[in-house]
Amino acid sequence: MRIALINGSPKVKRSASENILTALKKLFAESDTVLEFKLRTPTLSSRKIEEISKCNVLVFAFPLYVDEIPSHLINCLYQIETYLKANADKDITVYALVNCGFFEGRQNSTALEMMENWCKKAGVSWGQGIGIGGGGMLSGMTNVPDGQGPMKCMWNALNVVANNIKNCTSSENIYVSPSFPRFVYKLGGNAGWRKQIQANGLSRKDLFIKK
Ligand SMILES: Cc1cc2nc3c(=O)[nH]c(=O)nc-3n(C[C@H](O)[C@H](O)[C@H](O)COP(=O)(O)O)c2cc1C
Repeated sequence: MRIALINGSPKVKRSASENILTALKKLFAESDTVLEFKLRTPTLSSRKIEEISKCNVLVFAFPLYVDEIPSHLINCLYQIETYLKANADKDITVYALVNCGFFEGRQNSTALEMMENWCKKAGVSWGQGIGIGGGGMLSGMTNVPDGQGPMKCMWNALNVVANNIKNCTSSENIYVSPSFPRFVYKLGGNAGWRKQIQANGLSRKDLFIKK
């Protein structure tokens, strides 16, 4: 089995999508061929499109942008779709792991629906999606042991998806949120914004400027 792990975050480093794919990768057997791709810009080379299309399973991990798929990734999907339609013999199953800044994993439901619709257009099978809330925390959690901590629910969901991937089976989407109170996440998020604005030479009150 050839599995493509496709990171659709435009971030060069410290992306939550990368952490999610790193966790998923550990759940595959050594006999599986796992290929990793980063789609950070709107244009894909023909070579990359061909390499992706040679895989039996495509796993897209990406951030939610304005309740949707990031625009650069939509462009990439369109290019892959065009290639797949011209090479209609492809037997491919697609899975999507979407993370967002909001606490609730359900926020990602529209983006997952868009991915499912894309599968229909591209003539490939839809496998399953995970909608992950609390993505803002994920890049800072690289030292938390697998299967533990506030994102344990995500780990459990990844195990379910990994099993479905191994069998190329489809299942209902799963939505996960951090396993601690929402207000604690909000406090942490606000502290993060204050830290960032100060690091950029502005003050806390500048956070409230309206244009
Ligand atoms: C342009 C932009 C739009 C965003 N829109 C949303 C949104 O609509 N809902 C949400 O919950 N988070 C939104 N976010 C937050 C990201 O989804 C969140 O930071 C995510 O964890 C980033 O994932 P990554 O590190 O894999 O890129 C947005 C972020 C950016 C930069």
